[in-house]
Amino acid sequence: MLSILVLNGPNLNMLGVREPGVYGVSTLADIESKLVELGKELDAELHFFQSNHEGALLDEIHAAYGKHDGILINPGALTHTSYALRDGLSAVGIPAVEVHLSNIHKREAFRHTSVTAAVTLGQIAGFGPVSYELGLQALCRHIRN
Ligand code: DQA
Repeated sequence: MLSILVLNGPNLNMLGVREPGVYGVSTLADIESKLVELGKELDAELHFFQSNHEGALLDEIHAAYGKHDGILINPGALTHTSYALRDGLSAVGIPAVEVHLSNIHKREAFRHTSVTAAVTLGQIAGFGPVSYELGLQALCRHIRN
């Protein structure tokens, strides 16, 4: 069984309340329970962590070394700014997939750049909660191959 860490960054605890026109009405708990179901089909055990603090996310990435097989990450706004998360993902070398609910490439210019995506296997954006499901599938398939 694969062990996958699912990381969510700042403001993602506010899903359901936060800009529903952009991010939809699903809460983070809704998304996580859907992933648990998918995890059963994929024979993957999921571990969830959300924080509004960059350092807490970084600590979790470091703690994943030697413990988890893959990381599914939505860094939130830290996607666009955090060289620390990028370096952390790179340091542990655990296969990771970046996901976004919204299509960051058709939004404000500052969202067009992801500083973290380059150290992941790839990025899936724009499919709402389905981005997480697609990301988990892609991650597990990559690890098993
Ligand atoms: C987001 C996109 C980011 O630009 C934004 O700051 C978020 C959510 C998304 O899932 O669409 O917090 O990562």
